Formats: sequence, C-alpha cells, structure tokens
Amino acid sequence: MKVRKAVIPAAGLGTRFLPATKAMPKEMLPIIDRPTIEFIVKEAIDSGIEDILIVTGKGKQPIENHFDSNPELEANLKEKGKSHLLKLVQETTNINLFFIRQPHPNGLGDAVLRARDFIDNEPFVVMLGDDLMRDKVPLTKQLIDRYDKTHASTLAVMRVPHAKTKDYGIIEPISELDHGLYDVKSFVEKPAPKDAPSELAIIGRYLLTPEIFDLLETQKPGKDHEIQLTDAIDRLNATQRVFAHEFTGERFDVGNKFGYLKTAIQFGLENPEIKDDLTKYLKEVGERLEPKPQQKK
Ligand code: UTP
Repeated sequence: MKVRKAVIPAAGLGTRFLPATKAMPKEMLPIIDRPTIEFIVKEAIDSGIEDILIVTGKGKQPIENHFDSNPELEANLKEKGKSHLLKLVQETTNINLFFIRQPHPNGLGDAVLRARDFIDNEPFVVMLGDDLMRDKVPLTKQLIDRYDKTHASTLAVMRVPHAKTKDYGIIEPISELDHGLYDVKSFVEKPAPKDAPSELAIIGRYLLTPEIFDLLETQKPGKDHEIQLTDAIDRLNATQRVFAHEFTGERFDVGNKFGYLKTAIQFGLENPEIKDDLTKYLKEVGERLEPKPQQKK
C-alpha cells in the first residue's frame, strides 16, 4: 500500500522554551521568517504525502491560523503591489491539512494514537517538529522508498558522537542488510556511553505500520509518566520486523535553545537578504571575544 499520510504531533507543552511558549506554540517559533512547522509540512509535501494530520492541544490555534487564508492581508499586499509577499502568504493555504486535539499532553505515543481514525489502517509517517532535516532527497521520501521495498516499519536514525548517546534513543542493530538499512534488535532509551549498543540515534521521523495503534492503546506510561512512542515500537518489533534507516544529510535540532540559535544562524548565513550583514556581524563578535594580539611597536 502506498504511504500517503503523515502525522505531525504538535500538542506538547514546549517547556524548554518557556516563557516564550506560554502563549505561543513552540512549533510557531520562526527560523528567521518561517515557523518551524512550515519546514515539516514542506518536507511532507516534497515527499509525496497527500494528507497531513496535525495533533494540537490547548493554546495551539496559531498553528491552524497560519495555514488558513487571510483575505484581508492578501488584499492589502495585492493593493500595494507586494506580489512576492503575497506569494509567500498564499503558499501555505492550499494544503490538505487536518487537525485533531490531544486533550492532555500525555506523551508522544498518546498524541500519535489520536491519529488512529484518520490513518485508517494504512502505513504512515510521524514527523516531529523538533528536527529539521535537509538532504537531496527529503528524509521522509527516503523512508517511503525503503518501505516500498520492505513493507516494514522503519525509523530514521543518525550517527551521533559516542558521548552523546545519553541524549537519545539508541538502537541495537542486528546487522546492516543493505547500505544504511539495519535490522533492529532493541531500543535503549538514553544509555550512558559505556552501555550504548551503537551510535545510531533515533531522530524525528518514523514510518509505521498501522499495527502500532493496538499497541499504543494498551501502552502503559513509561519515562516521565508519559505514553512513549518508542516503547510501543519496541513491542511492535516483537511481532513484526522493524528497520532503521541511516540518515546522512543535515539535521537541525531546533527543540533546544542552542540548537535553535545555531539553526537560525546557519539559515541566516544562507539567506540572501541578510547573509552579508550577518557574516560581518559574526566576524565582529568573534574579534570581540578573541581580540587580535596587540603588535609590539
Ligand atoms: P517534545 O518532548 O520534544 O516536545 O516532544 P515538548 O514536550 O513540547 O517540548 P519540551 O520537551 O517540553 O520542551 C516531541 C514532539 O511531540 C509532541 C510535541 O509537540 C513535539 O512536537 N508532543 C509531545 C505531543 O504532541 N503530545 C505530547 O503529549 C507530547
């Protein structure tokens, strides 16, 4: 069966960005001028996804508003001849987007479970807004290409420095079946480097078969008393094959403050409007932090 649907869970509390996220969804924090969720939606569309379900919760209306048309604003831009801005504003309005609520932020697994009726027994992709991915072929499309051959659930993983395994879910691979495709024995949540079974960390894209829903229904709360998606995938792995696909492109982790700032700088350095000023500014900052040694007269 063709993979046509994606789920973007966006109902979390975004505590790492408080107080900014008290009244503003974390998914709407912009990288320069684009909310992070727009990058995710674009990756889905560029991967051939037809229907996208965004799981929202309390205070997340700005996400829905962002993807609505705004006739007043559009008329104003048209009148003033700002056709470039008009095009940007209209880009986000013609997408097959659906929304559903997660009443309580009970965890990522619980958010994905809200998508059960929408998915309706098809394979689907879960895309987390914390990770922006860049590669010649979008990562979601890479996962779909794998699925077309294996018909199995496949998680995106990426090699991380050994010392960083403690920050991720790490897979224990059995073997590399094809270039960058692994058979998974188990998942270990945030292992200390000495206990890590590999350096392959789960990142924010999952292609899942619909059998995951029965497991999510019965999944007991795990870490942080939340229904964890990886716990249910671990159980899925006991009944059907689960693979891991190694991503070798660029990953921008915008879910924490430093990663968010680094991403903004990187995208700024690539933005024609500001790259020259930003480069000059960063040089000045560098010199201020590390003044050149004074020459002796
Ligand atoms: P995170 O744990 O990274 O997001 O969940 P968070 O909880 O919003 O942020 P912090 O950790 O408090 O700063 C990964 C994704 O899963 C969604 C989040 O919105 C985020 O995009 N999520 C998480 C839900 O939709 N529901 C939940 O109950 C938990």
